[in-house]
Amino acid sequence: FHRIVNQEGQKVPINYPNLCEETARKFCPKIKSFEVKDDDIFLVGIPKSGTTWAQEMIWLIKNDLDYEGAKEYLHIRFPTIEKSGIEVNLPRCYEPDSIEFCKNMRRPRAIKTHLSPEYLPEQLLNDEKEVKTVYIARNVKDVCLSTYYYFRDKLNLNLGSLEHYGKVMMRGTFPRENYWNHVLYLWNRRYEKNILFIKYEDMKSDLRAVIRKVSTFLGKSLTMKQEEELVKWLDFESFKKNDAVNQVHFYKKDGFVRKGKIGGYKEEMSPELILEFDKWSNECLKNSDYKYD
Ligand code: A3P
Repeated sequence: FHRIVNQEGQKVPINYPNLCEETARKFCPKIKSFEVKDDDIFLVGIPKSGTTWAQEMIWLIKNDLDYEGAKEYLHIRFPTIEKSGIEVNLPRCYEPDSIEFCKNMRRPRAIKTHLSPEYLPEQLLNDEKEVKTVYIARNVKDVCLSTYYYFRDKLNLNLGSLEHYGKVMMRGTFPRENYWNHVLYLWNRRYEKNILFIKYEDMKSDLRAVIRKVSTFLGKSLTMKQEEELVKWLDFESFKKNDAVNQVHFYKKDGFVRKGKIGGYKEEMSPELILEFDKWSNECLKNSDYKYD
């Protein structure tokens, strides 16, 4: 587990979203041995890959479009298993810790994690259980930009310049140990029946198609009208106004949701940084059939 190294080369004592060493020691064994249930759904993805957006979509499909129930905070309906010990102070936070909270949830449970594959519950990706896992991926440069602003503006961390932060990300120390290891682990298993791999960019370009994919995966069937309703509900503007997901009172200003764009990195990254990202990604992907865009 790494901590972020800032521009001056100092280790910044940050424990979000990476669990800090102490927290990791305390909670990771508990997460590894977490008992999953056949009717659970897990969502895995690197922070800022559109996980919140995907959570809301998955939760609503899994719960037969219970819009009334969706008025409850998303982090309560669809908790993040590794949130214990970190400095988030969301309303009605997890008691006694996020792992127990997940354990005690009413079934069927929906659980999110940003953890790297090696820290996931052991039962999650083995064949003994029927538990389903959705993985969401997003363009690495947009993830870089989105995490940069999130940590800088919402969590007030001094990350140095975007250029510096991009390099830190490519060194594989933040926000996860290595973006491509994380993505490829589930990509390589995408044909397994209990794994579904989706992309943020596909949700942006054809949300309805992704809704259909997820519905089929979860054994649900929506009418055209229901699909339309859900597309509207998940639309960026309505998402922004939805406090159960956007949490303006906690994140202040615009809330959690920021720009929701594809390719925002093009406006903000230098051509050199873009090139570096491309080279690094192509190197990491040289033995993979993942399409780098
Ligand atoms: P940006 O910072 O690029 O705007 P996560 O939930 O995994 O942390 O991802 C957050 C990113 O998803 C943010 O990206 C956020 O704006 C975007 N996002 C959240 N809801 C969205 C929606 N309804 N439509 C498009 N993008 C959305």
